[in-house]
Amino acid sequence: MEGRVAQDENTGTNGVSTIPLLTPCKMANFNLSHRIVLAPMARNRSYGNVPQPHAILYYCQRSSKGGLLIAESTGVSDTAQGCLETPGIWTKEQVKAWKPIVDAVHAKGGIFFCQIWHVGRASNTSFQPNGQAPISSTDKPIKPLVEANGEVIQEFSSPRRLRTDEIPKIINDFRLAARNAIEAGFDGVEIHGAHGFLIDQFLKDQVNDRTDQYGGSLENRCRFALEIVEAVANEIGADKVGIRLSPFAAYNEAGDSNPKALGLYMAEALNKYGIVYCHMVEPRMKTVGEKVESADSLLPMRKAFKGTFIAAGGYDKEDGNKAVAENRADLVAYGRLFLANPDLPRRFELNAPLNKYIRETFYTQNAVVGYTDYPFLESIA
Ligand SMILES: Cc1cc2nc3c(=O)[nH]c(=O)nc-3n(C[C@H](O)[C@H](O)[C@H](O)COP(=O)(O)O)c2cc1C
Repeated sequence: MEGRVAQDENTGTNGVSTIPLLTPCKMANFNLSHRIVLAPMARNRSYGNVPQPHAILYYCQRSSKGGLLIAESTGVSDTAQGCLETPGIWTKEQVKAWKPIVDAVHAKGGIFFCQIWHVGRASNTSFQPNGQAPISSTDKPIKPLVEANGEVIQEFSSPRRLRTDEIPKIINDFRLAARNAIEAGFDGVEIHGAHGFLIDQFLKDQVNDRTDQYGGSLENRCRFALEIVEAVANEIGADKVGIRLSPFAAYNEAGDSNPKALGLYMAEALNKYGIVYCHMVEPRMKTVGEKVESADSLLPMRKAFKGTFIAAGGYDKEDGNKAVAENRADLVAYGRLFLANPDLPRRFELNAPLNKYIRETFYTQNAVVGYTDYPFLESIA
């Protein structure tokens, strides 16, 4: 909150905000001054998988003193990509390129975690080294993504099922990526276990058809995720590790027949490693960007997990305040609203109107348009 005290009408007699989202929160060793988190968002502007200087302004605009930011999904290896111009963190050049971005966020008092990912089968041969097949828990492909008008917008290649003896190498890639993230100056990493990417392809029974110790039972399907958590926590310290999960979502054809049991098993199992946070996507986010009614809830997982719990997906100010006030989450991550409102915490504090997001420029490659040109409150007035 830029070191400012909240407006009078929102401030209790002790000077602490009465808006639940704007109250401080201790997250392991981090003293957060508010609970509004920048959700991880791929912005597809890291040319050649290298973060670019224009990301300095983008992340700086969204930084505040004591605010938590989660960087966009960042590849752990040369087989991890499946989307245009997403950043990586497996080469020295990428680590070096992240440094000024992280330094700039720190200069504004922000706390910055790097989301580390591998897309698995959500890829095609054009993204893979030597045009090889993408890797996954399975050899079943994802069907092409087709628009209502019949136009194919994304095609996926048939994946190659990882052999059991290849799995330690992938776990090691996550470990090294986490080490690199710390070298780049990040405060920690978020392991991307959501949205139908590689880790989720192991977690979900709609995808995972393995017969080894990484498939079949719930315990076996969660093994890959938990071995990554353990390796990363051992490398950089559990107090610097978070994970994102979306047990209820079915993105990239990764649904599960019993998402509640899956979410609960993971929440409980994670306690063993003492990681700093568990970040879960609300059941209402069944498809990308569309909010639907859902009778399911993250509450059992929130209760089971002993660390900081971050909820995300379809939140507005009112809803987020309610989640914190009712103790359903410690922190709330905002995606599209934060993308379009670089000063989102301030706008919530002042009850100011919000900029509308422009979906067409979410994933375009321009270094300014739809990226760093959303106006701040001052410039509107
Ligand atoms: C442009 C864009 C890119 C996204 N990229 C990622 C990503 O890299 N990693 C991830 O876990 N989620 C990603 N998401 C999902 C968001 O983190 C968030 O969960 C989703 O937008 C729902 O929250 P919201 O309703 O606050 O936008 C992305 C969403 C958008 C709009």
